[in-house]
Amino acid sequence: MTFIRARNPLDAMLAEIARAARGPLEARHAAVADAIGAFVARPELLDGRDCPCCPDRYVRHLLHADDEAGYAVVALVWRPGQMSPVHAHKAWCALGVHQGVLTETYYEPGEPPQPVSTRLLAPGATSHGPADPRLIHRLANLSCRTAVSIHCYGVGFDRFGADLNQVLAA
Ligand SMILES: [Fe+2]
Repeated sequence: MTFIRARNPLDAMLAEIARAARGPLEARHAAVADAIGAFVARPELLDGRDCPCCPDRYVRHLLHADDEAGYAVVALVWRPGQMSPVHAHKAWCALGVHQGVLTETYYEPGEPPQPVSTRLLAPGATSHGPADPRLIHRLANLSCRTAVSIHCYGVGFDRFGADLNQVLAA
């Protein structure tokens, strides 16, 4: 007799991301966001994964890297008050909120960039964009609880430092 074990939601999400990340380049960020959004609010998504927070800054934990396809999936853990810099992306990106609430602010290019809109991202909400120096945003945890989000970027994990974010303001 053969037993077929149902995949856990993380494996299922990574499989859907893998499919979406191999689609047409211009559509990858939206397709990967859809793949993340289908699973990201599942409470058990990160069961068995150790994703501690850091008191000094938000922290990334690698969930999966596919160097051949050129993308990596990370979980970001945000303590209350922690935020990204104001930045644009040198690679396509997609994200979804797993736990807590993040505030995403979009900016117009400028010296310094000017905020133009803000929205709250609750569990299950997604955001995405292509590599575009004029698409500027900041993510922040302005709530009173730790937040966790899942991000996929169209660049190898070992290139995150140099080839992922174009930081425009602290
Ligand atoms: Fe970003």
